[in-house]
Amino acid sequence: MAAETTSVPSSFTSSLREDRIFPPPAEFASQASIRSREQYDALYRRSIEDSDAFWAEQAQLLDWFQPFHTVLEWNVPHAKWFTGGTLNLCYNAVDRHAKGARASKTALIWEGEPGEVRSLTYEELHIEVQRFANVLKNLGVKKGDRVAIYMGVSPEIVLAVLACARLGAVHNVVFGGFAAHALADRMADSECRVLITQDAGFRRGQEVPLKSIADEAVERTPGVEHVLVYRRCGREVPMKEGRDHWLHEELAKVSSECPAEPMDSEDPLFILYTSGTTGKPKGLVHTTAGYGLGTMLTSKYIFDLQEQDVYWCTADVGWITGHSYVVYGPLLNGATALLYEGAPNWPEVDRFWDIVDRHKVSIFYTAPTAIRAFMKWGAEHVRKHSLSTLRLLGTVGEPINPEAWMWYHREIGHERCPIVDTWWQTETGSIMIAPIPGAVATKPGSATLPFFGVLPEIVTKEGEPVPPGHGGLLVIRKPWPAMARTIYGNPDRYQAAYWSEIPGSYFTGDGARRDEDGYFWLMGRVDDVLNVSGHRLGTMEIESALVAHTKVTEAAIVGRPDDLKGEGIVAFVSVVDGTEVDKSLADELKKFVAKEIGALARPDEIRFTQALPKTRSGKIMRRLLRELAATGDVKGDTTTLEDFSVVAKLKEKDEE
Ligand code: WT7
Repeated sequence: MAAETTSVPSSFTSSLREDRIFPPPAEFASQASIRSREQYDALYRRSIEDSDAFWAEQAQLLDWFQPFHTVLEWNVPHAKWFTGGTLNLCYNAVDRHAKGARASKTALIWEGEPGEVRSLTYEELHIEVQRFANVLKNLGVKKGDRVAIYMGVSPEIVLAVLACARLGAVHNVVFGGFAAHALADRMADSECRVLITQDAGFRRGQEVPLKSIADEAVERTPGVEHVLVYRRCGREVPMKEGRDHWLHEELAKVSSECPAEPMDSEDPLFILYTSGTTGKPKGLVHTTAGYGLGTMLTSKYIFDLQEQDVYWCTADVGWITGHSYVVYGPLLNGATALLYEGAPNWPEVDRFWDIVDRHKVSIFYTAPTAIRAFMKWGAEHVRKHSLSTLRLLGTVGEPINPEAWMWYHREIGHERCPIVDTWWQTETGSIMIAPIPGAVATKPGSATLPFFGVLPEIVTKEGEPVPPGHGGLLVIRKPWPAMARTIYGNPDRYQAAYWSEIPGSYFTGDGARRDEDGYFWLMGRVDDVLNVSGHRLGTMEIESALVAHTKVTEAAIVGRPDDLKGEGIVAFVSVVDGTEVDKSLADELKKFVAKEIGALARPDEIRFTQALPKTRSGKIMRRLLRELAATGDVKGDTTTLEDFSVVAKLKEKDEE
């Protein structure tokens, strides 16, 4: 690598003391929709002190079939926003832009990994989404039905999502990197009748056989009656008579007129599964009006969307970031959104920057883990490209270390673009803490200040406020429109997971501190949730996968700091007596997890142990294991059995 390469620091999680401050660039602020700190402060104050009036006013940004009569009904933890109103988010994202000045505006620009480019205007999107919706209708899909979507990134996945919204069907998108088992569980839990998938997808020059993984999943999910298949790669795939249908054949049969179903504000829009502290992922339910308004408003103000922008969020549609900031947020605003199918390092490590220049991207939103990869690959690859169209950068998914922030600012933003570090979660639906770029000065590593209507606080375990400068638990004190309403089929778990830790407040699961300026600094999860490359994984979920292996008796998963991924996955495993522990068993177990959950959950290291260290009450001593995983000098797979009995006894006291 060349001399210019910036090295990735080894202890980024600890370097959270930061004095640098970057005021909004004058040129940016002069054209931004919110252009001063005073303006932000005034709007924020009103959003908290007079929140019903604030939200009633903002809700006029949406087109309503029928106006709402009540802004908020709040019975902790159950919120109902904009009751009495009816609307349709597909109509809001497409139809209303497909007439008048925006009709011929580009809605989507898509680039496939092999290099083909397709774009759709709002007018074209309007036609295509109606045809897609008619195909679903012909398969019997109606309001309230759940539809699973297991696809790569293409205009078709956007159409699939919006077509569901148009009919009032509840979409359940499952990230294309999840394995058959994970897909089956999610489809079964949400009782899906239809699955939309594709023959295969391109990833780093390879074809990912989505249809055959989907087949395996559908075999285990008897409730799925129809599988609609988008032909992406032209791959030969078996089609099951009566169950499987080619999308292009079905599209040929339908008309391009399909009215948008009027939905109640609180009708469910989608279910999205995310990892929690138990083995079973949670199906968070988001509803129509509040989610629509939350994603529309945050996109408008935090990304400062302007008519001429080309906006690119690099997330996969299968994650909440993709739902809110690839599909709904930009399209509800009538923006031009770029979609890219493949990997950032295919065919070369400068693919993203090539895309930015060719498509004149002006707003770019990605994850810290990607930024750290670019740093590692070297700035010289970035410098081959002008990046002169960029005017705003964003990050999401994990805390960004100040070093990566500074690199992003310098090498990608050319010290000209504000950076919005956006903190939020699958549960929150839309961004909660982030700078308004024309108004709020940024500090590398801080997500800065709350968005309108969001009232975060740092508290102790007992719920007492923590003074500035001290760490504590991050809670949210007021309901907000895009908050998840429940866990599908499990309202008790919703209450227990989010509203019981600190009664009356929403518990985020994150640790944070607030500085003297009121800025928030996120410090990572305080529960048994890992953040691997910005992807959320439950330790118990991986443990359940491991113990399903016949040779495994017990398993404990912990995270350890990782320069690139944020957290790496370490598995402590005890095996059935007499099993030979060696590298090949470690490899087998890693593969097994990848097969059960998906490659994203594959452990980086397997450490075999006679028994897991436990407290007298039988709790696994995770703190000890985390310490060991982080500091242990054992690199790679250990093939020796570790005996924790002594150290466990020593530590037993302070764990209890
Ligand atoms: C968890 C939520 C919705 C964003 C994509 C991930 C962590 C997210 C930040 C940030 C520090 C962050 C938190 C959070 N996180 N954004 N800007 N700074 N941490 O959504 O999969 O629901 O994960 O991601 O720990 O709780 P998710």
